[in-house]
Amino acid sequence: MQLAEKYELMRKLARDFATTELTPEILDQVEDTGIFPKDIQKKMADTGFYGIKVPVKYGGQGSDHLAYAITIEEFARVSAVGSLYVNSPNSLGGMPILIAGTEEQKMKYLKPMVQGEIVIPFGLTEPGGGSDAGGVRSTAKKDGDYYILNGRKTFITMAPFADYSVIYANTDPAKGAKSMTAFIVDMKLPGVSLGKEEQKLGLVGCATSDIILEDVRVHKDDILGEIGSGFKDAMKVLDVGRIGVAAQSLGVAQACLDEAIKYSKERKQFGKYLCEHQAIAFMLADMATKVKAARELVYDAAVTKDTGGNSTLASSMAKYYASEICNEVAAKALQIHGGYGFVRGFKIERLYRDCRVFTIYEGTSQVQQMVISSQILGK
Ligand code: CAA
Repeated sequence: MQLAEKYELMRKLARDFATTELTPEILDQVEDTGIFPKDIQKKMADTGFYGIKVPVKYGGQGSDHLAYAITIEEFARVSAVGSLYVNSPNSLGGMPILIAGTEEQKMKYLKPMVQGEIVIPFGLTEPGGGSDAGGVRSTAKKDGDYYILNGRKTFITMAPFADYSVIYANTDPAKGAKSMTAFIVDMKLPGVSLGKEEQKLGLVGCATSDIILEDVRVHKDDILGEIGSGFKDAMKVLDVGRIGVAAQSLGVAQACLDEAIKYSKERKQFGKYLCEHQAIAFMLADMATKVKAARELVYDAAVTKDTGGNSTLASSMAKYYASEICNEVAAKALQIHGGYGFVRGFKIERLYRDCRVFTIYEGTSQVQQMVISSQILGK
């Protein structure tokens, strides 16, 4: 896809920022400590990366989904966890408020969020319901001007340092998902607590934990959208979120390809460079073809969203394909590195671990197949 100059400028801005700030030394430090530097988070926000497509009146850049996808791709090419910090406010953090919030809520939450002052995760998944998002068991019982929330949200990215969280709960358990409603919950409210921080295979440096809600009193002004519109609004959020994960997958896949090409030109076996062996050259050809195909799908999903097309279908296709080929390309790139790919110190080892979750979070590949098939067959 031929891109207008403004997108190439956006790409350059993101690439320069990521390569300057997220150096191999910093990224090793993140792996060792599990902590992503606060000063880099602040610089990301100050440069405008947290509000790429948030309208200017709410403190964002007012740009579009294509600019967002390219930015995430470039960050992920350097660091998947770095891309997650940029992705979150643009995606599952900001979108629930942009889609369903009142003008007052947008002013109150989006501005500080894009400035990096507050963090708002997306509390949908529960211990008993990940893929079956409609199976949410958390409840919100009306009590005068308040709702009493009870339940547990699981695998919530950034929960350990969240200031607020969007929580999806059913106001009428008998109606299930038809009564699902989103609330903005202040994490300091009595009754809100966290589960233990998860030790993850990849994306080290971005904390994940459960959020536990025990008789939490939330005022009706903190309802996001309409009573009962929570499920559909969450699906609309994921339509955008999946473009973000697809772009992360694309960036990591490109990084794996870059590493494999570089290594194949440095390492000799049987008297010639790896890339001079046809077995390796053909693997690289296969990887490059799939990365290019993924890029077309990812940009197409972004443009479809920007131009009002069927973004549910396009973003699921992009997420499904890009995350699957990313894992395939990462496995092949690691194979080309041989034993060196299996040990710490080579970038490919981190990329291989980081991308494993891309076919899982924000809807598994099997969920994407459900969405795609129901879209093309007509439900
Ligand atoms: N936009 C608007 N409306 C939508 C929609 C969309 N994209 N998708 C579905 N709907 C509507 C349907 O039209 C339907 O409306 P009606 O009742 O009026 O007919 C209603 O929602 C119910 O739809 P379905 O019958 O298709 O719902 P379902 O129960 O069969 O589930 C699903 C469909 C696609 C499997 C959905 O449950 C799903 O996406 N599951 C995966 C959830 C997910 O991605 N979770 C990730 C959480 S976040 C995360 O991972 C990040 C992290 O921090 C770790």
